[in-house]
Amino acid sequence: MGKALEGVRILDMTHVQSGPTCTQILAWFGADVIKIERPGAGDATRSQLRDIPDVDSLYFTMLNANKRSITLNPKTEVGNKIFAKLIEECDVMVENFAPGAIDRMGFPWEKIQEINPRMIYASIKGFGPGPYEDCKVYENVAQCTGGAASTTGELEGFPMVTGAQIGDSGTGMHLVAGILAALFHREKSGKGQRVVCAMQDAVLNLCRVKLRDQQRLAHGPLKEYPQYPNGEFGEAVPRAGNASGGGHPGWIVKCKGWETDPDAYIYVILQAMAFEALAIVIGHEDWLEDPDFNTPDARLPRLMEVYGEIEKWTMTKDKMEVMDTLNPLNVPCGPILSMKELAEEQGLRATETVVEVDHPERGKYLTVGNPIKLSDSPADVDRAPLLGEHTEEILKTIIGLDDQEIDAAREQGAI
Ligand SMILES: CC(C)(COP(=O)(O)OP(=O)(O)OC[C@H]1O[C@@H](n2cnc3c(N)ncnc32)[C@H](O)[C@@H]1OP(=O)(O)O)[C@@H](O)C(=O)NCCC(=O)NCCS
Repeated sequence: MGKALEGVRILDMTHVQSGPTCTQILAWFGADVIKIERPGAGDATRSQLRDIPDVDSLYFTMLNANKRSITLNPKTEVGNKIFAKLIEECDVMVENFAPGAIDRMGFPWEKIQEINPRMIYASIKGFGPGPYEDCKVYENVAQCTGGAASTTGELEGFPMVTGAQIGDSGTGMHLVAGILAALFHREKSGKGQRVVCAMQDAVLNLCRVKLRDQQRLAHGPLKEYPQYPNGEFGEAVPRAGNASGGGHPGWIVKCKGWETDPDAYIYVILQAMAFEALAIVIGHEDWLEDPDFNTPDARLPRLMEVYGEIEKWTMTKDKMEVMDTLNPLNVPCGPILSMKELAEEQGLRATETVVEVDHPERGKYLTVGNPIKLSDSPADVDRAPLLGEHTEEILKTIIGLDDQEIDAAREQGAI
């Protein structure tokens, strides 16, 4: 069984989270990912949020698995030549520096194409072309400017960002799709192309249902939102607490132990076809004959009352008992799982979605493995490289330098 991207070589000029997420997925699929890092310093995340002194952080090690690391400064004379040779020898170049940084190193897209017409050059930027295109952007800026924050949070509360890294990792995953499409296209055209993904655009894509609701708002209140029927709707889609974004209403309800356990909750969805079973199990058979409750439309103005009755029942059981009771009844529900519970979940270990990796300096650590499973192309998860661990190996085998040339490059601060 071969790796899906075996034979594809990636020139990885990424840092922090968004770009590394993209190249880590490509590496899991078997691409040879060569991460270029600034000599002496490396990716800034190596030293950010460190939990162990002088050891590469989990921030870095969990985003750079299966890659090779070379230190190289393309702004030096020798470094520039080595970088040009790497462009010649690679299939894809990925970067997520501030706008213009790669151009300032002397490598605008035209030059890259000239060196290697088959090169696919993929970038992540904060914004697409327009008034904000030169701005630097981090995760929460993207969440705020892409529509996630304005639509997330308590009904009357502040805009809220989510813990899911939809701006960084979300954009990185979008970029993977663009790179794979360009690789497929190159098979037919023989030519590379430019792939660009803006974080604002990726977040908006993930908030697609909220732009749907913005347009529905013009035709009346959003009846599945908790603001209906008593609250006021303004001109824009409001924050809706934990209301479901889909066609079936849903809410988070308390379970046994909620007073002391911050995660003793479960999400319950009122799917119409399963409502009868749900009503019976919580002791509300009366709803089945009651015209105020026995159709989805009748329930809409009474959703909070329905959730309240469900909660009276869920509060008598722990969240896993609720899950075990409702699932056989086909009632969609999901316990609120803490990171502790996820780290210990044996099912996720068995599927290698959570993987334990051994690192020469930090010892064993947990990481999230490849969530995309291919039947014939397994994705083994290896540790992240140390800074410059593969510099000599890459300079000798790909660039063709000998020991003397490598020493000279080191003396000039190029590597
Ligand atoms: C994330 C971000 C805000 C970080 O900004 P930053 O830490 O100030 O870093 P920059 O991207 O501005 O680039 C740093 C500099 O390092 C230089 N550099 C990078 N790699 C280098 C190397 N191997 N050798 C020498 N210099 C290097 C760049 O050339 C740039 O220098 P310049 O500005 O003088 O041209 C910014 O990179 C950005 O907006 N990226 C695009 C959006 C994005 O991906 N954001 C999410 C990140 S998770």
